[in-house]
Amino acid sequence: MAKNSYEKADFWTLKAKKEGYPARSVYKLEEIDRKFGIIKPGQRVLDIGAAPGSWSLWILKKQAGRGFLSAVDLSPLKIPVNEENMFFVQGDLYDPAVHSQLAQRGPYHTVVSDAAPATSGNRSLDTDRSEAIVEAVLDYAAQLLLPGGNFVCKLFIGGGQRELLDRMKGLFTTARAFKPEACRQESFETFLIGLGRKPE
Ligand SMILES: C[S@@+](CC[C@H](N)C(=O)[O-])C[C@H]1O[C@@H](n2cnc3c(N)ncnc32)[C@H](O)[C@@H]1O
Repeated sequence: MAKNSYEKADFWTLKAKKEGYPARSVYKLEEIDRKFGIIKPGQRVLDIGAAPGSWSLWILKKQAGRGFLSAVDLSPLKIPVNEENMFFVQGDLYDPAVHSQLAQRGPYHTVVSDAAPATSGNRSLDTDRSEAIVEAVLDYAAQLLLPGGNFVCKLFIGGGQRELLDRMKGLFTTARAFKPEACRQESFETFLIGLGRKPE
C-alpha cells in the first residue's frame, strides 16, 4: 500500500535521526546529487541557509576530509564545526559583511542553498521572499563560482520561476527545476539546478 505523505515524512525524519542528521532535508540534497553529481571530494562548497546543518554534514562526508565548506545561517548550526575544513558565519545572507567573509574563502566549485523565509501563511508574500533569496543566492553564484561550477537553490513556487530560470540560463550551461521525492507531497517547494557555470 502506498504511504501517504505524513507516513512518508515520518520515514525521512526517522531515517535522518537514525543516521545522525539534524534534519530530514538531507535526503533532498542526496537525491539531487545522485541525479546531477554536483558534489565531489576535494571541492570547495558554499552552503547558504545551512542550519541546523544536515546538508553541511552530508557535504563534509562527501568531501572526504578534502576540500572546504563555508556556511551561513541566521541560526546556529547543530553540528560540530572543525575550522580546518569548515567556516561558519551566523548572520544574514543579505548582509555585505557576511558576503565579504564568504567571498574571502572562495571561489567555490558549488553553491547550494536550502534557505527559506519564515512562512507567514500568505503564499504570495512567502513566494516573493523566497524568490528574493534565490536572486541573492544567484548573486553569490555569479560572483563566487568557478567556471564549470554548479548551483542548487530552493524555491517556493510562485510566479517568478521562469524569470529566475532565464537568468540562470545566462550563467549556466544547463538550468532546470527539480523536485526531489523527499519533499513533502503537499509542499510548494522545488529546487533550481544550474550546471556548468559559464566563464564570465
Ligand atoms: C530549511 S532550513 C535549512 C536546512 C538545512 N539545509 C539543513 O539541512 O539542515 C532553512 C534555513 O534558511 C535560513 N535562512 C532564511 N533566511 C535567511 C537569511 N536571510 N540569511 C541566512 N539564513 C537564512 C533559516 O534560518 C533556516 O535555518
